[in-house]
Order: sequence, then structure tokens, then C-alpha cells
Amino acid sequence: MNETFVEVVAESRLMRRIAELGKEISADYAGRRPVVLGVLNGCLPFIADLVRSMPGPMEIEFLSLTRFGEEGRVSIAMDTTTPLQGRHVLIVEDIVDTGLTLASLRRMIEIRDPASVATVALLDKVPRRIIEIPIEYRGFEIGDEFLLGYGLDWEGQYRNLRSLWAVTDLSVLKRDPYALNQETATTGEGFGAR
Ligand code: IMP
Repeated sequence: MNETFVEVVAESRLMRRIAELGKEISADYAGRRPVVLGVLNGCLPFIADLVRSMPGPMEIEFLSLTRFGEEGRVSIAMDTTTPLQGRHVLIVEDIVDTGLTLASLRRMIEIRDPASVATVALLDKVPRRIIEIPIEYRGFEIGDEFLLGYGLDWEGQYRNLRSLWAVTDLSVLKRDPYALNQETATTGEGFGAR
């Protein structure tokens, strides 16, 4: 069997953890009406499942970022439709790696004078952090491996996988960006697997 791609977090475990996060965040935000702010494109499956485990009042907004330069600077490519001034903003990220993207984003949001800013990240790649940045809620702490699926991509692919996969040999994807599709097509795992 091909060991290049290993399923590391099954869909059922993702759902359990996200439900716990939703409950914890809902309790903390009781009596407030947060703006739940998804960072596209990677947040998509996570925010969809998270907000459905948060029954209280909220607005759901999105923005997308363009990265430039080595030092992780970003600009806003698509902005929110709701002003953030005076609002409780909860940033929803798929993964925090070096932390540079999130640090820039938080600065850009804080300039807008919100009532509060917090972050929920599904995945926190702790050993890769190069800038100290608060992450108020996190799904899983992970190591240095490259992950795919459930929002995470390689060249735009694999965001639609229902579970999280680790790539043990990136050279396989560099040669063939669709290699995991071929793998799942033959084993029947990954897409739609429960
Ligand atoms: P940071 O600025 O270094 O924290 O980078 C965060 C961004 O890097 C994420 O939003 C992802 O787009 C990307 N990224 C980091 N690690 C992974 C991974 O393991 N798989 C897929 N994308 C990743």
C-alpha cells in the first residue's frame, strides 16, 4: 500500500472536536453577537461545521488575503461587507503555521476598532511558529507535517476531502499534484470516507 498519504484525523474525530469548540465558544460569547469571520479559502468546511454547533446569534462574514513577500505580509483581496467597528470579531482559520499571516490579519482588524478580537484555528502547527500570536481556541496541536484535506490544499486541490491527511513525501505531489486523488480512487478512502 502507498504510504505517501496517511489519514491522520478521521471525519468523526473532526466533528467531535469541532462540536466541543462550538460549545466552548458559544458559552464564552453568551450575550454577545459575534462576527464570525472566515478566512477564505481554507476555512470553508471548518466554518460551516463550527457555526452549526454555535446556536446563538451571530453574523458570518468572509475575507480573503493575498500574501506577498517572504515575511508573510498580506493584503486584503476580498473584504467583509459588515463594518467591524465595535463588534466582537472571531477569526476562523484552518491552520496557523509560522503565525505571520494571522499576525498581519489581526493588525489589520484591530485598526478597525472592534470591541474584541479572538481567533479559532482548527490546526496549530506549534513547532513552526516564528511569531508569538494569541490563538484563543484551537482544534488540534500538530507537528511539522504537511496536511491536506478539510480545507487544506495543495495547488488548490483536496480542500473537499472530508478528513485530514498527512503527506509523508512532498516530492510525490510536486511531481503529480493529483497523486492523492489517484490514491483515493484506487483504495476508496478519503473522498466520502467515514
Ligand atoms: P503562516 O502565515 O505561516 O501561519 O501560514 C498559514 C498558511 O499556510 C495557511 O493559511 C495555509 O494556507 C498554509 N499552510 C501552512 N501549513 C499548511 C499545511 O500543512 N497544509 C496546507 N497549507 C498549509
